Amino acid sequence: MIKALFVVSECAPLVKTGGLADVAGALPAALAKQGAAVRVLLPGYRTVMGQLGKTKTAARYKDLFGGPAKLLACTVAGLDLLVLDAPHLYDRDGSIYGDATGADWPDNAERFAALCMTAAKIASGGVNGWTPDIVHGHDWQAGLTPEYMRKLDAAAPFVFTIHNIAFHGIADAGKLDALSLDATRFTSENFEFWGKISALKAGLVGAAKINTVSQTYAEELLTPEFGIGMDGILRARQGDLSGIVNGIDLEVWNPATDPNITPYKTPGGKSANKKALRKTFGLGAADGPLCVLVSRLTEQKGIDLLLDALPALLDRGGQLALLGSGDPILEIALLEAADRHENLSVKIGYDEALSHQMMAGGDAIVVPSRFEPCGLTQLYGLRYGTLPLVALTGGLADTVINANPAALARGVATGIQFFPVTAQALANAFVRLADLFEDGKTWKAMQRNAMRQPVDWETAATTYAGLYRSVLEARP
Ligand code: ADP
Ligand code: GLC
Repeated sequence: MIKALFVVSECAPLVKTGGLADVAGALPAALAKQGAAVRVLLPGYRTVMGQLGKTKTAARYKDLFGGPAKLLACTVAGLDLLVLDAPHLYDRDGSIYGDATGADWPDNAERFAALCMTAAKIASGGVNGWTPDIVHGHDWQAGLTPEYMRKLDAAAPFVFTIHNIAFHGIADAGKLDALSLDATRFTSENFEFWGKISALKAGLVGAAKINTVSQTYAEELLTPEFGIGMDGILRARQGDLSGIVNGIDLEVWNPATDPNITPYKTPGGKSANKKALRKTFGLGAADGPLCVLVSRLTEQKGIDLLLDALPALLDRGGQLALLGSGDPILEIALLEAADRHENLSVKIGYDEALSHQMMAGGDAIVVPSRFEPCGLTQLYGLRYGTLPLVALTGGLADTVINANPAALARGVATGIQFFPVTAQALANAFVRLADLFEDGKTWKAMQRNAMRQPVDWETAATTYAGLYRSVLEARP
């Protein structure tokens, strides 16, 4: 078995703000079947500490970026965890990345540097006789790991997965000392980025292999528009960059056994859930498709486009039930729109059980993202026979088969894609959706295709295990 250490800032079911947590929570079990045993190194946020049960202290650190810390080993939900208990960094109210007002914690650089330093310590000296063969970091929060591994002479190769390049983990150059970084490496070839420290860049520079969560996003990242300042370094490392599409946890997302819904095995079984969902959202009966959307509310997710395009759906008797939270401006705009349109219903908040009910009860799931490294909700939609209507970008391009005439003629379509990512194109897509929905036979056939599409973790886990083997074999 290859011993791998995940370095990651969130992990389902313990702590989640988005898809990164789903990946960190589900990929280890899939990797175990492919010959890699994963331990997950996770910050001991207050919400995490409350869920750990029995733990063993695996290491103690006298002063980890401003206070004492402990490394706790435990197993939760089948995950082999190493939790970094550092109260001065993680024991606080608010969210895991910021305070109650939504502002980032001012010491986020230190908070995640501590995670990376701990990973490097584990990789160099081991914990209780366990030393990883591979260190696998996820997003900027893990980016400084190779810098510290270098410092501590840790031999294991570092693999870096980009889940979202929009977040760079920037810190002022004045923090070089405070972050225990080597000032001679504060150069444009290394982790300096426009005069600041970039944790993301440190990860990209220090990784033996880099991957992201779909092939299309891997290609998009090489362009200035999607690479957001990192396209140059990614072009330079193109030979080491690949795309591996995420899967979903088939036990958590299984319409036949889901405890949150009226279970079903065929599309026909959705109707009871649709009725219940309309009730939950206060929507009346309607002839058009009931669309759902579950998302963080940010610029990335194209919610503003949705608001502009919505009349095209409503004019055809369609409805939209939306669950999300995030940008207060978008939250208000959505609530105001819901006041104006009786067939738009909005719930602001985060609700895991409701998200399952929406997948079960919706006819279609809308994902109008401007960019989407992979996207998971369209995969849940496929599995639940809730047809994805998605922007043609990133993982949305790679996981949905657009109902164009060729795909319909072959009988393989699973959803609808629109391009360019504009309100007008989305409005046109809503019209296409309504037309398809009216053609009950085609719609049913698409639902069956969708529910049969493989969305499990096996392919991705096989590819990650292959990536681990290739970097281990390439070692001098
Ligand atoms: P991202 O990671 O960019 O937010 P993904 O589609 O990869 O996008 O993953 C989002 C995850 O978060 C999914 O599991 C989705 O169901 C969940 N999610 C997002 N917003 C909410 C919400 N308001 N309530 C419940 N689950 C949510
Ligand atoms: C990021 C991306 C999303 C992806 C998720 C898991 O949050 O925005 O597209 O599915 O990571 O990889």
